[in-house]
Amino acid sequence: MALVCVSDYEKKASEILPKTPWDYYRSGAGAELTLKLNESAYKRIRIRPRVLIDVSKRNTKCNLLGIDLNAPILIAPTAMQKMAHFDGEMATAKAAGNFNTIYTMSTLSTCSIEEVENAAPGTNKFYQLYIYKDRELTKNLICRAEKAGFKALVLTVDAPIFGQRRSDVRNKFELPSHLRLANFTDEKLFVQSAGGSGISEYVSAQFDATLNWNDVQWLVNFSKLPVILKGIMTYEDASLALKTGCKGIIVSNHGARQLDTVPATIEVLPEIVKAVGSQIPVMVDGGIRNGTDVFKALALGAKAIFVGRPILYGLAVNGEKGVESILNILRDELDSAMALAGITNISEINKSFIVHESNFCVSKL
Ligand code: FNR
Ligand code: LAC
Repeated sequence: MALVCVSDYEKKASEILPKTPWDYYRSGAGAELTLKLNESAYKRIRIRPRVLIDVSKRNTKCNLLGIDLNAPILIAPTAMQKMAHFDGEMATAKAAGNFNTIYTMSTLSTCSIEEVENAAPGTNKFYQLYIYKDRELTKNLICRAEKAGFKALVLTVDAPIFGQRRSDVRNKFELPSHLRLANFTDEKLFVQSAGGSGISEYVSAQFDATLNWNDVQWLVNFSKLPVILKGIMTYEDASLALKTGCKGIIVSNHGARQLDTVPATIEVLPEIVKAVGSQIPVMVDGGIRNGTDVFKALALGAKAIFVGRPILYGLAVNGEKGVESILNILRDELDSAMALAGITNISEINKSFIVHESNFCVSKL
């Protein structure tokens, strides 16, 4: 059967991946209420199509932080990609370059910064940073990313510890023994279970849970690269991010893998756009599975969106080509939504093209 949408790839990936890696990629925190909300919230937003507009010439291209993109569809950082495909992060980075979008590489990658740079030198790359208790190690990661030509640091701020992913605990999650966290050279290479989720135990042992706004200021001052904060969910924190000199914000609840019962990202996007969107680019991730979801996020003020799990589905099914297929599916669906809503380029998308379903409740009809 031809795989024609993200959910086709999701189903195929679920069939071919072993249980433990699949559970790790799929799962959210707790009872997975927010995991469902991230996607269902998009279903509660309707697109208002305008007609009789010449849409014969359309363009999904855009520019973000000075980088020209084929579409405002970027790759979110997802860890341990060699569990999905033997080429791992190298395949994903190559696909991002072929499509011409930004690849965000996780600190917890199974290919090293240098391997990814050598595999995909022409790809625009962001480096997602976790700050370790070992600050010298953290500085070394930053310098390696700078030397490898990465264009920005994405500091993840919603993971002082990891959320309760129940299937990882049941599975006693470990990185398969033939794989390594390739950016490290000592015990930090390995993810082994001491009885629970090995990745959660690793994070509690290695990540700096004291992280606060002074550390963001330190990073902005230390790095030569622009700093983007990933994991902001309130207008209060968005305003603090702006004050520390961050150059962008990714509204994210970590794919609903951290604190269950937080809002869907699309639900809080408007308050954050209102707070800082006129000064720095606000981006969003979480639950985006269709081109219409991309359209809605842009209409609510996002400058771009990131996808996480869909990229892993593509990688698992068909490596570099699979990731490229996912990006092309989302771009083509966005292009179709634009044409049928009466839009010819990304900058025309605004909130007049969407309405929340609650506006149609009977009392208002
Ligand atoms: C993630 N995410 C994540 N975020 C981050 O900052 N560093 C990381 O290493 C990872 N790793 C990771 C692994 C897996 C398996 C998933 C599903 C997610 C979160 C990711 O960047 C992003 O915020 C979400 O995946 C977006 O939601 P969707 O697109 O997966 O619904
Ligand atoms: C996760 C980490 C790696 O969500 O960010 O699994």
